[in-house]
Amino acid sequence: MIPAPIVGSIKTLLLLTVGLAFSAVAAMAQDNACVQCHAALPGKYGEPVILWRTSIHSANGVYCHECHGGDPKDMANAMNPGRGFKGVPKQTAIPETCGRCHVGVLKDFLGSAHGKRLGNGGPTCVSCHGNHAIKKASLELINEKTCTKCHPYERARLMKEAMQVTEGLITALDSRIQELKIHGKASEGMEQGLFNARNRFHTLFHNVMVEKVKSESAAIKKELDAIGAQIDAIEGAEQKRKMAGAVAIGVALLAALLFRLLGKSYED
Ligand code: HEC
Ligand code: HEC
Ligand code: HEC
Ligand code: HEC
Ligand code: HEC
Repeated sequence: MIPAPIVGSIKTLLLLTVGLAFSAVAAMAQDNACVQCHAALPGKYGEPVILWRTSIHSANGVYCHECHGGDPKDMANAMNPGRGFKGVPKQTAIPETCGRCHVGVLKDFLGSAHGKRLGNGGPTCVSCHGNHAIKKASLELINEKTCTKCHPYERARLMKEAMQVTEGLITALDSRIQELKIHGKASEGMEQGLFNARNRFHTLFHNVMVEKVKSESAAIKKELDAIGAQIDAIEGAEQKRKMAGAVAIGVALLAALLFRLLGKSYED
């Protein structure tokens, strides 16, 4: 007879192994026909898979066919135009390819000096974000290497500076709110306010209007300052509460000491 505890652990081990096997199958099933076939191709036909796997799109289940069309379920006919395959998008078609999902960005972009020069010396989404290894957007995307491909850096620098100030404020407020949350003191309103301000801030860029970035940054700063004042108030109240607590403890200790001294003098 095998002792019961050992049988138990064997069962657990078996369950674990089966579970692992299942999740391996699940992970493989996620590689559709496009990914499977291209992963096995050399050079410029295989590289997109390697890059795409590192992207925010891969992490969110946005596959090859979302930008290139085609049928990811049919290995034999995946790239058949009859199945919606569009091939490599032309430069002028890139914004609408991306804008199918990034609707607000597309609108801002098309209305901007950049969008108006589409196909005529202006950038596309890919000029700044790349195509397959797209990562979470940040102000690092505004840099001399990218922006001076077509014009001097000065206007880009002004935009980046204005935006960095706001970014710094948002990050600082966020960590203060997180700190308050740990102690159960943050209000939903504050988090929502910061969330809204952050969203508005992140839609600033694609207009590429230096003056607008500056004026909007100033407006957003006001909203952020209001949230900051709320946090100050909560932290101030907390500080007072702690002080009062400390005073109370001090008084109690003093009382206890007096009591002992009095007690001692009676004993004497
Ligand atoms: C069975 C293998 C296989 C499958 C499945 C497959 N591809 Fe391809 N793909 C290729 C090969 C080989 C090429 C290069 C030669 C060519 O263009 O036909 C290619 C080329 C491409 C190109 C470049 C075309 C060009 O004009 O340069 C794109 C984009 C592409 N595939 C996307 C996809 C998408 C999206 C899917 C899934 C819907 C897919 N592929 C499925 C093998 C495959
Ligand atoms: C988010 C949209 C997007 C996704 C997802 C995407 N691609 Fe692309 N792909 C593009 C764009 C845009 C271009 C054209 C890039 C350019 O002009 O710089 C391109 C170009 C290509 C090319 C041509 C490369 C060359 O050098 O000629 C191939 C091949 C390709 N993609 C395959 C794939 C495969 C395979 C996948 C999935 C693993 C994939 N793409 C996923 C947007 C995407
Ligand atoms: C000239 C460079 C440039 C071009 C062109 C550009 N972007 Fe951006 N994009 C940026 C920068 C810089 C940020 C980051 C702004 C920030 O951190 O607030 C950004 C942020 C984003 C974001 C995240 C913020 C948000 O509003 O959701 C998305 C999505 C995005 N871009 C998509 C696109 C698409 C789609 C296109 C084409 C229609 C495009 N971008 C064209 C530079 C560019
Ligand atoms: C099928 C829909 C779809 C298409 C097409 C698409 N994206 Fe996305 N994109 C997403 C999703 C989903 C995310 C991840 C969630 C999010 O951040 O919005 C994302 C995230 C991003 C981000 C990071 C956003 C951030 O919050 O920092 C950028 C930048 C971006 N995409 C650019 C592009 C560009 C450029 C193209 C075209 C080459 C493109 N996308 C095509 C759906 C799409
Ligand atoms: C592929 C070329 C190209 C790239 C890359 C590019 N731009 Fe531009 N940009 C243009 C063109 C064309 C114009 C319109 C003519 C002009 O004002 O110089 C323009 C105009 C601008 C303007 C003036 C907008 C206005 O309304 O007056 C700003 C600001 C700007 N770009 C910022 C940037 C930033 C920031 C980057 C880098 C993240 C960048 N650009 C990258 C081509 C480009």
